[in-house]
Amino acid sequence: MSKLSKPSVLNDVKVKTVLNRLHAEANKQLPGLILHYLPKLPGLLLGKGIQWDSTKTEYYNDKYIPIEPDQGEFLYLIARAINAKTIVEFGSSFGISTIYLATAVRDNGGGIVIGTEIVHEKVVQARKNIAEAGLENYVEIREGDGLKTLKAFNQTIDLVLIDGWIHLALDVLKILDPSIREGGIVISDNVKTFKEPLKDYIEFLQNPVNGYQSSTFKMKGGTEFSVKIRRHDEN
Ligand SMILES: C[S@@+](CC[C@H](N)C(=O)[O-])C[C@H]1O[C@@H](n2cnc3c(N)ncnc32)[C@H](O)[C@@H]1O
Repeated sequence: MSKLSKPSVLNDVKVKTVLNRLHAEANKQLPGLILHYLPKLPGLLLGKGIQWDSTKTEYYNDKYIPIEPDQGEFLYLIARAINAKTIVEFGSSFGISTIYLATAVRDNGGGIVIGTEIVHEKVVQARKNIAEAGLENYVEIREGDGLKTLKAFNQTIDLVLIDGWIHLALDVLKILDPSIREGGIVISDNVKTFKEPLKDYIEFLQNPVNGYQSSTFKMKGGTEFSVKIRRHDEN
């Protein structure tokens, strides 16, 4: 049985059909991505992770680089477990992670996933994919730079997915931090793959002074799981 057709916690044929198509399209890009990363492999093998060049991101403008199905189901279950109603996502790409999260919000009885994406074509396609999955009422994709688009929140945030460009992760988290509720969760993708460039970010999350308890799990290229234990203003 292929990874995509394994039994799923998402009991929704419409959602699964869209996700299967998107994951399959993303997988087609994998050989090219592996070639792209080949010169950077020594850093990964030495345990330092891949260096990140923030001046050369155009290559990724048409790349999915999504979370994997296992991570998606993990996100879905976490969102269900904490009854997440407000979820924020930095880096929506073509909407794969957004769809897992929005399914959870819908199954929790309603709420919103606020995603952000800087590449216009991806925003257009993500909105189409989300509508095809029947989830458009549970998603708001804010087009533009997350440093600007993720500023206005009327509600507290239950769950955050940090999956945009690495060099912005800490700044984005600091913008969201005051709105994340106690017991809220931050999940961050690829923290081992980009171990060195994300050093400050992980140090911030793993230092309880900043209000989080946080561990790195082996899922995909390292998934950081962080729980907000105390709001800043209570320090
Ligand atoms: C790893 S991909 C996200 C994959 C997505 N979460 C999924 O699972 O399908 C990272 C995305 O973040 C977007 N991005 C990078 N910097 C951004 C920024 N400053 N503001 C908004 N989006 C950004 C990129 O264009 C890219 O599509």
